[in-house]
Amino acid sequence: MSNLLGSKYRVQIFGQSHSPMIGCVIEGIPAGIVPDMSAISAFMARRAPGQSATATARREADAPQIVSGLNERGETCGAPLCALIANADQRSRDYDALRDVPRPGHADYTAWVKYAGHNDIRGGGQFSGRLTAPLCFAGALALQLLAERGIRVRARVHSIAGIRDAGVDFAHPPMNAISDGPLPTLDPEAARRMTEAILAAKAAGDSVGGVVECFATGLPAGLGEPMFDGMENRVARAIFGIPAVRGVEFGLGFAAADLTGSRHNDAYRVQDGRIVTDTNRHGGALGGITSGMPLVVRAAFKPTPSIALEQRSVSLGNRENAPLTVQGRHDPCVVPRAVPCVEAAVACAVYDLILEG
Ligand SMILES: Cc1cc2nc3c(=O)[nH]c(=O)nc-3n(C[C@H](O)[C@H](O)[C@H](O)COP(=O)(O)O)c2cc1C
Repeated sequence: MSNLLGSKYRVQIFGQSHSPMIGCVIEGIPAGIVPDMSAISAFMARRAPGQSATATARREADAPQIVSGLNERGETCGAPLCALIANADQRSRDYDALRDVPRPGHADYTAWVKYAGHNDIRGGGQFSGRLTAPLCFAGALALQLLAERGIRVRARVHSIAGIRDAGVDFAHPPMNAISDGPLPTLDPEAARRMTEAILAAKAAGDSVGGVVECFATGLPAGLGEPMFDGMENRVARAIFGIPAVRGVEFGLGFAAADLTGSRHNDAYRVQDGRIVTDTNRHGGALGGITSGMPLVVRAAFKPTPSIALEQRSVSLGNRENAPLTVQGRHDPCVVPRAVPCVEAAVACAVYDLILEG
């Protein structure tokens, strides 16, 4: 099923951008866990809309309501856990024109074809970035369960509109410091230029994309399966569930293609009785199986499709070319809000593989 993620930690996401509610049903949570609702709310608030000039003006409380799966003491009881999130600030009339004239770059046309015109066009329907709110709920819970095993998943902005932070140097030791220490913070000058690029695109009626970088630390060696169920496969599947993702890379990713083996291989050594690698160009998995080094994954996000500039499109009804000026409130760049979404996707995938053993 397309809305179902995971084999043991099974997350089913439902709803549309302008339906009364969205949410998720999660199976596979161990019984006896007390979800830390304040941590879940704080996590979801990092994704919530309406919080800055670089995000959509739509305002949603994103307060999840758990309607099943807990006992009278607030512990998980073994039943599927269902969390509901209300949609409150819809402005569906903004989408009326799109029923006939699809937005270039969005899923309006492909959904119209697939669902024979019965797709919910309002707010992008089931294709909306809004559906990452329940993903973040499931991810926040997975993060809590991972933390009990000493595993942390953290992401940050890597680049926006081609403006890169200096970032982490995977080629040289001691990059392992990232295991315990804080994530390297964005260089303030790079952060300022990124914000400026988003605001400039917004002012011009345009949008920009970028890259989110994510680290999972504390992972045991030996997780994952070869071939089609490798750690990379499963993490990539989860990340590609986030709308607007165009690419996923691990370790040095595409840059590895330009190196020689001698410059790319990470040398092994023994450190305090543990086998580690000096560098982490491989990104934490070899043969689909974790090496015990931090998992390093980057997700490339395209520029937001809904832009205010006039674009060329078609009238589906008349079968003729038609210009389109998109109305409504949109993120000029999805990257800042996508950071917790990537953490959530990685957390769900990693926890699922842990339950698989
Ligand atoms: C957090 C988040 C917010 C988003 N906000 C918008 C938005 O305001 N306007 C828009 O057109 N697309 C937005 N998107 C992207 C679209 O949902 C996405 O491009 C569209 O569904 C087509 O899917 P695809 O890009 O994966 O092919 C957002 C994505 C995310 C992850």
